[in-house]
Amino acid sequence: MNMSATYMKRILDSSDPESLSSLLSQAEKVRLEHLGNEVYMRGLIEFSNICRADCFYCGLRKSNQAIKRYHISAEEILEKAEFCMDLGIPSIALQSGEISSDREVDFVARVVSLIREQSTKDGSAGLGITLSIGELTYAQYRRLFDAGAHRYLLRIESSDRSLFQSIHPAEQDFDKRLECLDALKDIGYQVGTGIMIGLPGQTTWHLVQDLYFFVQRDIDMLGMGPYLPHPDTPLYLSSQRAAIDPFIGTIKMLALARLLMPDINMVVSTALQTIDADGLKLGMRAGGNVIMPLLTPEEYRGDYSIYINKRFRPFYDLQSEVEAVGYQLAFGKWGDPLHYYRNRKIPYPGQRSTGEGCSL
Ligand code: 5AD
Repeated sequence: MNMSATYMKRILDSSDPESLSSLLSQAEKVRLEHLGNEVYMRGLIEFSNICRADCFYCGLRKSNQAIKRYHISAEEILEKAEFCMDLGIPSIALQSGEISSDREVDFVARVVSLIREQSTKDGSAGLGITLSIGELTYAQYRRLFDAGAHRYLLRIESSDRSLFQSIHPAEQDFDKRLECLDALKDIGYQVGTGIMIGLPGQTTWHLVQDLYFFVQRDIDMLGMGPYLPHPDTPLYLSSQRAAIDPFIGTIKMLALARLLMPDINMVVSTALQTIDADGLKLGMRAGGNVIMPLLTPEEYRGDYSIYINKRFRPFYDLQSEVEAVGYQLAFGKWGDPLHYYRNRKIPYPGQRSTGEGCSL
């Protein structure tokens, strides 16, 4: 869909409820046309909260001494993968604080290949595997891809260089983040990125620029969520305000992204479900078509405190809410992003290809 930058900014700035409800109806229509009413699932295992990065907004930052660090064993991850299969969730996402050493990459590669081996034993396609473990080298990304991971999430956080730099220490470089996104794409991953909404100093122009960034980078998956200030981080003390409400801002950004990119996968983030009880419902209406039910063992959940008071919802709870508003969980379907296949002109496995791509 063609939308000008000023039109998008006007939508983001508007406080008119009618403009919001018309935006949601348009986004929902596009989503139903291109992707139907299915919601894909990724069982999320937060296998370690150890992090070498020091992002100013994140509770897992290495300088935060107030959390207990943990690392789940390979056996425990495999058990959860098995549980994921039993629930009928066809994909798994492994997430952790940012890792760097080859030893840790070896660990993840071993776990990935064991999950592939174990889950395909019955002759099925097995579990789809998403990774979200931060900035690595080209060779390390390649190694994990060869081990069997095929999706990777690495948020840009903000596509504005100076806003990015204002929320990260100098040694975490914007260009390095871009290089990583390039490497992932080059290797053949389905690549996901995203931002936080409501950051101190973030304007609606920044957000419009973020939407352009996603389109220009030709991403396959998008994860956007509200910024939730964490008291044990430096950004908590920032006196700068954001130009937009983090909840409504996220809903509007999801809807605009869906209009611009009808065939990507877009997650309804846990942060969105944490900030407002209607997060899941509105997130799906705005075009979100992926959820990530949490499979992290209970004893560790509280320590994966990217932000505080993260909402945990039992799987069947999520399922009934999804179904109550007319959507349907896609049991047994990997649910790869249509966009990835369309771009490479390869037939979408087991799903008819529909509609057109996107343009600005
Ligand atoms: N509020 C919301 N999201 C956060 N993240 C990190 N810290 C916060 C926070 N305080 C998000 C970032 C990161 C992802 C793993 O979690 O976007 O990429």
